[in-house]
Amino acid sequence: MKQGKITTLWIPKGGGIKTTTLQALVYGIKKLKPEVKMLAIGGDYQRNLTDTLCPGLPDFCMSLREILTDKVNINEAIIKLEVCDFIPESSLLSGLDLELQSFLHKEDRLKEALDELEEYYDYIFIDLAPATSSITINALTASDQVLITARASRYAETGVQFIPEVLKPVLKYTNPNLKIAGVVFGDVARTNLAKGLIQRITEYVESLGSKAYKTQIRHTVEVEEAQDCHMSIYDYSPDATASQDYLAFVKEFLEDE
Ligand SMILES: Nc1ncnc2c1ncn2[C@@H]1O[C@H](COP(=O)(O)OP(=O)(O)OP(=O)(O)O)[C@@H](O)[C@H]1O
Ligand SMILES: [Mg+2]
Repeated sequence: MKQGKITTLWIPKGGGIKTTTLQALVYGIKKLKPEVKMLAIGGDYQRNLTDTLCPGLPDFCMSLREILTDKVNINEAIIKLEVCDFIPESSLLSGLDLELQSFLHKEDRLKEALDELEEYYDYIFIDLAPATSSITINALTASDQVLITARASRYAETGVQFIPEVLKPVLKYTNPNLKIAGVVFGDVARTNLAKGLIQRITEYVESLGSKAYKTQIRHTVEVEEAQDCHMSIYDYSPDATASQDYLAFVKEFLEDE
């Protein structure tokens, strides 16, 4: 079945607010547009997305590992949550590259699996680990767009500069239509250093033909507190600056459509 917009949240940099932003997107879209159907897909052996969306789920559950190695049909791996449907993560995802070695068509296995979804989703979001792996390539091949997430840091800048190198073969061989939706800055401190880095990263992303989202998400302790309680930031602390910022970002993201 043809699906709605498929977005991979990505920066080739650890701790680059990918998972936090994905959580804010699904909880935020649910809040603003409760009728919308969403599927969140965890692609990280660290299981951070699962820890928030589906706390307590035992490890070694059905995940992208079983889907991409033909052990299970994608529809059987979906868990129905209040906020969205969800394909959770297993720590065994860390060994997937090795397991896939003997399989053919390694890059478009997720794309083919998504074509087999029985339900229609308005939005599908994919979370990734920082390393470039076969899951990264599968996600980029299956997606309509990449949403780059970044802190205002020098190391985020080097991560963003690595993006064209990974995208080049994907655009050439597996997904010529892949777009960069834009870069969203989060965990931002109000310092001159942050301001300068945001300007440099923005200019770089613009040179790739994309943009920076206007809303920047400020640093605030409630983000980690909400994750510690396995909660949506909007429910945990609706008045926190990050709640307001993330909601403004979600509106901006939805306006792109
Ligand atoms: N606005 C914010 N204020 C304070 N802390 C934040 C904010 N945004 C994210 N963080 C914290 O930054 C840390 C890294 O974020 P996150 O785990 O989302 O990054 P990631 O890119 O998914 O990391 P990984 O590459 O390991 O998957 C988390 O502990 C998160 O709570
Ligand atoms: Mg993460």
